[in-house]
Amino acid sequence: MVGAAGLQLPLWAQPLGRPVLPLLFGVDYYPDHTPESLWEEDARMIADAGLTNVRIAEFAWGLMEPSEGKFEFGWLKKSCDILNKNKIAIILGTPSAAPPPWLSKKYPEIMEVDEKGQKLHTGGRRFTCPSNKTYRRLSVAIATEMAKNFSDTPGVIGWQIDNEMTLGSSRRCYCDYCQQGFQDWVRTKYGSLDKVNQAWGTVFWSQTYTDFSQIPVPLPSGGDPNPGLALDYDRYQSYANASFIEEQLAVLRKLCPKHFVTTNNVSLLDVIDLREHYAKLDFASLDNYPGFFDMLMRESKVEMPPDAISAMIAMSHDFARCIKRKPFMIMEEQSGKAGQKTFSPQPAPGQVRLWTYQAVAHGAMGVNYFRWDTATFGAEEYWHGMLNHDRSKSPAFEEMKQTVRELKGLGQELLYSEYPAEMALVFDYNSSWAVSIQPQHFALSYMNQVTAWYGSISPNHSGVDFVAPDGDWSAYKIVYAPLAHVITAAQAEKIKSYVQNGGVFVAGFRSGVKNESSQMVKTPLPGLLAELMGTTVEDYVPIYGAKQSVKFAGMLAGWAAECGLWADVLKPNGAEVLGTYTTGSYAGKPAITTNNVGKGKAVYVGADVTGEGLANLLGKFAGMAGVKQSLQAPRGVEVTVRRAGGKEWMFLLNNGAEATSVTVPGGFRDAVSGKAYSEKVELKGFDARVLLAG
Ligand code: GAL
Repeated sequence: MVGAAGLQLPLWAQPLGRPVLPLLFGVDYYPDHTPESLWEEDARMIADAGLTNVRIAEFAWGLMEPSEGKFEFGWLKKSCDILNKNKIAIILGTPSAAPPPWLSKKYPEIMEVDEKGQKLHTGGRRFTCPSNKTYRRLSVAIATEMAKNFSDTPGVIGWQIDNEMTLGSSRRCYCDYCQQGFQDWVRTKYGSLDKVNQAWGTVFWSQTYTDFSQIPVPLPSGGDPNPGLALDYDRYQSYANASFIEEQLAVLRKLCPKHFVTTNNVSLLDVIDLREHYAKLDFASLDNYPGFFDMLMRESKVEMPPDAISAMIAMSHDFARCIKRKPFMIMEEQSGKAGQKTFSPQPAPGQVRLWTYQAVAHGAMGVNYFRWDTATFGAEEYWHGMLNHDRSKSPAFEEMKQTVRELKGLGQELLYSEYPAEMALVFDYNSSWAVSIQPQHFALSYMNQVTAWYGSISPNHSGVDFVAPDGDWSAYKIVYAPLAHVITAAQAEKIKSYVQNGGVFVAGFRSGVKNESSQMVKTPLPGLLAELMGTTVEDYVPIYGAKQSVKFAGMLAGWAAECGLWADVLKPNGAEVLGTYTTGSYAGKPAITTNNVGKGKAVYVGADVTGEGLANLLGKFAGMAGVKQSLQAPRGVEVTVRRAGGKEWMFLLNNGAEATSVTVPGGFRDAVSGKAYSEKVELKGFDARVLLAG
C-alpha cells in the first residue's frame, strides 16, 4: 500500500480492516525444545500442512541471553533461515514472561508479591513484578537485542510482546516497587493529598494521608481496604502492565518499523484493562482453549447448560474483536487434548475445525494452532499439539489441514471483513472491579452478569459488539448495561443523548450506585441515571434463599420470570411499569420500567431476572429497538455475518454433537464447496459452514 507521500507504509501503520498482512494460519513452534536435526523436517512438514507462519521464541530468554549481557542468537537465526526457506513467516516473541534463573538469582527483588503479601518463587513463569525498574530494564534489553538482530531477517513479519500478562497465579502484584509506583501514579492523578483524601474518604478508620509515601497497597490489614484506594489500585495495575508492554513496543517501533506488534491474552478477564493494554499495539491477539475451559468448569463443579462453553468462547471472541474494533488474531488455538497436570476432554472429530471457524465467524483474521509438536519434557508435556510425543500426526492433524485449506480459499477479503452488529453490551472495567472489591451479595459478580446478558441476547444472531461506557454508541439500536455500577457525570450525559437521539438503553439492577472514586452517590438511585430512567429505587434487597418471582406487564404481558440474587424495588416517576414482584416483602412493587425520552427509551431492569426469563426479556427489548433477527436457529447453533464490498458471508456453527439443520431465507451457496442451498442447510454434529448470499 502506498502512503500519501508515495512511500510504502510499514505494515503496522496500515489500516486494518483491509487485507494488508499476509495470511496468518500458523502454528506455535518451539525450535528451542526440538533437536536441531529435526528443524528441516519440521519446517517442511509445517509448510506441507499448508500453514503460513509460526510464532517462536517467547519463552527462550535463557537460550538467547545465557548470562547477563551475553547474547546468542545464532540458533534462532538458523531456525528463522530454515523456516523462511520453506516460505513460513515468523512472529517472534519477546521473552519477558519467564526470566532465566541467573536473572532471578541475581535480582531477587523482581519477584511478584501476591494478594496475601507472599513473594512468588522461581521455577514457573509469570512470577515477576510489572513495576520493577530492574526487570523492565532487563526486559527492554533483551527485546532491543532481538529487535536489532531480527529487524531485517527474511521471513520475520511481526512481534508478540511477552505472553499473557493477564494470566498469573495472582491477579495483581503488591510488592514494594508496585507500592512506590502506585504512590507516584496517585500523585500524578490527584496532584495533592487533599484531593486523594477527599476522593477516598480517608477520614474513615483514621486513614488520612499526610505524605504520599504513607499510601499502602491493598494487602491484608485487619479490615477491608478503602474501596476508593482499592479501585485506584486496580487502575494502577492496568497502567503498570500496559506501560511495561509499551517500553518494549517503543524499541520495536524504532528498530523494526516494517513489523507488526501485538501481545496475546485470554480475552475478557477483568484482570487488566485490555483496551488500555492494546491501545498502542496493532491488533489484539487471543489465546483460545475451549476444552481446557470445559475441564476447569467441570473441576469446579459449576452447573452449566451444554452450550455454555461455546457461548463463553463466542463472547470472548466478540470482546477481542471490539478491543480495537478490528479483526483480531488467535495466537494460540487448542489443537488437541490440553492440560498441564490433567487432560481436558479429547476434542471430538470436527471440533477443532469448528473452534477455528467460530473465531473467524466472530472477527478473527488469522489463527495459530498451539502447538506444533507435543513437548516431551517440562510442565506442559500433556498439552497436545499437531504432532504427538512420538511425532506421529495428532488425531486432528488432517482436520486442521483441511480447515486451513478452506479458510485460505475463502481469502483475505473475508478475513478482513466487518462484523455488523446492531446491539452492544457495555463492558466497564470500573464497574467490574468495584463489584469485585465489594460484591454486596456473596454470589454477585459483574463477569457473571455480563455473561448471562450476553448469553441471553446472542441467540437472536443479530451481532453483539462490546463497548466501553465512553465509547461511540451511535451505530447501535440498543445498548445493554448490566450492573452499570460506577457511572461518571460525563457517561450519564452521553447515555442521555444516546437515548434522546433514538437509542434504547437497558440498565440492570444496582446501576448508578457509585461515582468513579467508588463513593456512594448521595441522590436516590440509580443516581445520575434516575431522571433518564423516570424511576428511582425505593429499596434494594439482596436475596438469600429461594428465588423471588416477577410478573411482566405491558408489552411483556403474559410472562413471568424468576429473580435470583437481587431486587431493586422501584418507584416510577413517569416511567411505565413492565414488571412487578409477585413474591417477597415487596410483592406488588415495580421491578422493571421503561421511560420514553426524546426519540428513544431508557429501561431499568431492577430484578436479577434469570435463565429463560432473561432471554425473553432482553430479546423483547431488541425487537422493540428494531433489531432485525437474521434467522431462527436451534439452540446451540450460532449464526454470524461478516460483510465486505457488497458481499455477505453467513456462518452457521453447530456447537452440539447432534446433527441439526437451519432454514435459510432465499438462495445461498456454500462458500467452500460451491453447493447451492435454497432452504434447509443440514449441519452435522460440530459442523461449520460459510454461506454466500446469491
Ligand atoms: C497459554 C500460554 C502458552 C501455553 C498454553 C498451554 O495460556 O500462552 O504458553 O502455556 O497456554 O498451556
